[in-house]
Amino acid sequence: MKISRRNLIKLSATAGLTAFTATSISPLLGVVNVAQANPRKKTKITPFNFAVIGDAHLYEMPNHRFDKTLERAVNDVLKMKPKPDFVVFIGDLANFGKKEELLKGKRILDKLRKAGIPYKMIPGEHDWYLDLGKFWKKLFGSPYWSFDHKGVHFIGMNSILVEDYWTARDMTPWERMLAIAELECHICGLWGVGEKQLQWLKEDVKNLSPDTPIVIFTHSPLWNYYPRWNFQTKDADAIRDILSKFEKVIAIHGHVHQVVYNRTGNMVHIGNLATSWPWPYPPVELPYPKIVMHRADPGDIYDGVGFATTYIDDTFLGNMKYVEWADLIPKDLKNGIPL
Ligand SMILES: [Fe+2]
Ligand SMILES: [Fe+2]
Repeated sequence: MKISRRNLIKLSATAGLTAFTATSISPLLGVVNVAQANPRKKTKITPFNFAVIGDAHLYEMPNHRFDKTLERAVNDVLKMKPKPDFVVFIGDLANFGKKEELLKGKRILDKLRKAGIPYKMIPGEHDWYLDLGKFWKKLFGSPYWSFDHKGVHFIGMNSILVEDYWTARDMTPWERMLAIAELECHICGLWGVGEKQLQWLKEDVKNLSPDTPIVIFTHSPLWNYYPRWNFQTKDADAIRDILSKFEKVIAIHGHVHQVVYNRTGNMVHIGNLATSWPWPYPPVELPYPKIVMHRADPGDIYDGVGFATTYIDDTFLGNMKYVEWADLIPKDLKNGIPL
């Protein structure tokens, strides 16, 4: 199995892209023989690429700097050659769940659709807790979905649902929103997808054969990265269990606003950059295999932020490439990360 250099070059978005091998960065990632781990699939995939944008955290005020960085990501996607087949926005479009913030975000993202690039949305906690997702759903429809594309089964889920922490405390919608907008909310509890979506997921994949290539998008990671900051999904174990019958699952998440990678069983996990700001890495030593970006210059609005493009080849080997506009991506990750 080979990654086609020509195909990889074709998907190049804004930065130069050259050939890579899975083993060339494997010592850093703690991943060995990614290619060999993907036996030839019976399900036929036509190679394609898609882009992932997220964590825009738009404010209501006009001409905010986060408008510029989201617009830049959208404009970069529009310049991709070939065009990505679609874009997934991976949550936190708004900062405080306000109608004006969500509407502004939709206006910016709709440039994609007007140029013939469809986009799918999942919510982040910043989109949701002012009105419990009411306006978000009005604009974007169901917060969980699946579709098949060129031989791959794509799933999006709403991973930011928490138990009611507001009613007993008699909190206003605004107080509820401000609480969960904190990185370390002490009263919100851990979040997840909940029983209804777990049942839906079971049904969704029930009739798929184990060799079906699966890509799942959630706002938060499907592994316990740092639960104290809700860098986790409470029922990730149940999701991984439902998807454990598949030979391989690519799980892409937002929320952490940083470069991070892990493997659990048949799943490879990768975090997307924000277009707003980069979060710091958790201030503790963690045992996970991880990759690390350099730290940002707070004075540069394009530093440490960006988005990602992902190429899927005909063997379901993915390559996720961070598009970051300064120079914070370590050299050995510049050609992408094998998934
Ligand atoms: Fe975020
Ligand atoms: Fe978030």
